[in-house]
Amino acid sequence: MVPSKPINFFLAPMIAFATALLLLSLFLEFPPFSPSLPTSSPPSSTSPIPSYPSSSSGRLGSRPKEAFSDLRGAFAKWDAEVGCARFRKGRRGLAPNASALQDSGGGADCGGLGPAHVSVLVKGWTWIPDNLDNLYSCRCGLSCLWTKSPVMADKPDALLFENVNPPERRWKGEPLRVYIDLEASRKRSGFEDIFIGYHANDDVQSTYAGSFFHNNRNYHVSPDKLNDTIVYWSSSRCVSQRNQLAARFLSLVPHHSFGKCLNNVGGLDKALSFYPECSADASAPQWWDHLHCAMSHYKFVLAIENTVTESYVTEKLYYALDAGAVPIYFGAPNVWDFIPPGSIVDGSKFSSPEELASYVKSVADDPVAYSEFHAWRRCGVLGNYVKTRAASLDTLPCRLCELVRRKGGRDGRTL
Ligand SMILES: *[C@@H]1O[C@H](CO)[C@@H](O)[C@H](O)[C@H]1NC(C)=O
Ligand SMILES: *[C@@H]1O[C@H](CO)[C@@H](O)[C@H](O)[C@H]1NC(C)=O
Repeated sequence: MVPSKPINFFLAPMIAFATALLLLSLFLEFPPFSPSLPTSSPPSSTSPIPSYPSSSSGRLGSRPKEAFSDLRGAFAKWDAEVGCARFRKGRRGLAPNASALQDSGGGADCGGLGPAHVSVLVKGWTWIPDNLDNLYSCRCGLSCLWTKSPVMADKPDALLFENVNPPERRWKGEPLRVYIDLEASRKRSGFEDIFIGYHANDDVQSTYAGSFFHNNRNYHVSPDKLNDTIVYWSSSRCVSQRNQLAARFLSLVPHHSFGKCLNNVGGLDKALSFYPECSADASAPQWWDHLHCAMSHYKFVLAIENTVTESYVTEKLYYALDAGAVPIYFGAPNVWDFIPPGSIVDGSKFSSPEELASYVKSVADDPVAYSEFHAWRRCGVLGNYVKTRAASLDTLPCRLCELVRRKGGRDGRTL
């Protein structure tokens, strides 16, 4: 059907479709701007990173309004006025909840893990990217063959199922059954020996902060931000509550909306005519290939999760960070456990769209305040983000092979 592509923007709609009806009743819970919502709830002691007002760069509005588009020029102003030393100091003592992420095993004891070899066969049609297929050299002398080919792995230690359920029974000597569901509901099949989800409590965690979620992307990053149009949005699954939230906010800020929902650029596929330098493959331009490049022209990217639930932070946010834009985020209440300090505008902390829009517009006209949102990357202040990336799809093969090995592979205990 469809080859592997970035997950949520493109295929999650498809993956999610089957389960969407079920989820609707359980999970769809949007953050409308309303006094009853967590807008006023103070961040918990474990996710306390306040981004408003940005702490090191002084009070927003204390500097004269200054339109700017040159990003490096803005960074130089921030360096002169604030600088990494002050930024680091301001972030000291802020500890996100480390348990939101699994340890990827760096320091852990090898305990009989290797030398050994484990093979995992990925079954059936799935969004899991083809180019994750590889022979991995993992820690402790463990090697890991991850493949979609039943020729390459004719006697696999584990079978990975995504689109279909594993067999109900596993007989002695048969491969372990692994099931993955990265959607918000983390729905187990009920027949797996190992479950992979986005949450730290799942057997193996796979976050969305991995480069395998954006194969074939165009890596061009614009050095200039648009000065007049400050927010990028692109959504093609027009869930009504997300749309309403976006519409209320976007009506208050100059923006471009490229997707099917609330499109205001004169139709679909306009990003390439706006930004020809973003074309990755002129013979077959696909919107997901130039997504990052298009985003990089904007100061802000609106990112609204389709489901608001703990730890469900998807590529919508990471794409924007990877593109050098600042996400305006509505989603997981514990999002700060996953991202760099001071890297996003947390939309749920504002009491109205007007308040949020006025904040965003002030930052857009203040090169020093805006640069502060990029300071994490420039100063190496990453918080849990290092763990978030280490627990992504990119490293899933080794982490799964390790667990398969610990469970004994084909010779592991049957249920
Ligand atoms: C920003 O936009 C304003 C109004 O369109 C324009 O006058 C100004 O020259 C622009 N500034 C930069 C730095 O591009
Ligand atoms: C920390 O994160 C874990 C995993 O998401 C969660 O179960 C736990 O409740 C969190 N602890 C606090 C204090 O928020």
